[in-house]
Amino acid sequence: MKVPLVDLRRLPKHVAIIMDGNGRWAELRGLPRTAGHREGSRAVRRIVRAARRLGIQALTLYAFSEQNWARPPEEVAALMELLREFLISERREILDHRIRLRSIGRTERLPAHVREVLRALEEESSGCDGMTLVLALSYGGREELADCMRLIAQEVLRGVIHPQAIDEALIDCRLPSMAEGAVDLLIRTGGEQRLSNFLLWNSAYAELVFSSKLWPEFEVEDFYSAIAEFQSRERRFGRIFSHQNL
Ligand code: IPE
Ligand code: IPE
Ligand code: MG
Repeated sequence: MKVPLVDLRRLPKHVAIIMDGNGRWAELRGLPRTAGHREGSRAVRRIVRAARRLGIQALTLYAFSEQNWARPPEEVAALMELLREFLISERREILDHRIRLRSIGRTERLPAHVREVLRALEEESSGCDGMTLVLALSYGGREELADCMRLIAQEVLRGVIHPQAIDEALIDCRLPSMAEGAVDLLIRTGGEQRLSNFLLWNSAYAELVFSSKLWPEFEVEDFYSAIAEFQSRERRFGRIFSHQNL
């Protein structure tokens, strides 16, 4: 494969990935779906490393959705175990490279053995000034918005904020997924062209890149291609840039 040219001066600041296709990768090989998740966690390692080496400021990964709890309990348990293994095995690399690890989502729903290692690494890496790696766990975009609205309603009730003060900037400040700013580039692997309840508010102006590759076979070159594709797009944000001073 020809390695696509990435312009290091025009990198997306915030990249988000819907890592889809683990189950199909395994099924195509006659393996249990969990084997696909295991292979998928290898892809996570290489893409995180590639993003850090490129100099991406923030990478948000959709690792487990709020809706994924409805999968068979054995699959959920395997995913939780892999998550725990990932956090333990990557701890050294994360800290050595000054990666700040954060999580978004209803993480209180995660089993205690995962929550503990997650909290510990979030705490340990909180002062790191390298790339921020955000794991979306038990995450749903609609749930995040509902949680945020509830918090704002409580603040209004307590008289802390006036309803007139509720605007886009205030919501940006209240949404955990907005802490690293809006997503510039959103990649989805696995061939489906939908958001599946991922970052609804902050992908408003994200450039969407869909890859037909299944997540376990998503290589560093595919990541570079997605960035090159992003760099070939003209982001207009509703304005007109191509016809000057019309
Ligand atoms: C993505 O792969 C991983 C998670 C949703 C946790 P899938 O498990 O959705 O794989 P497919 O889409 O069934 O192939
Ligand atoms: C989205 O993939 C969730 C993650 C990648 C974690 P899904 O496989 O759950 O989404 P649908 O069911 O195809 O919409
Ligand atoms: Mg899927």
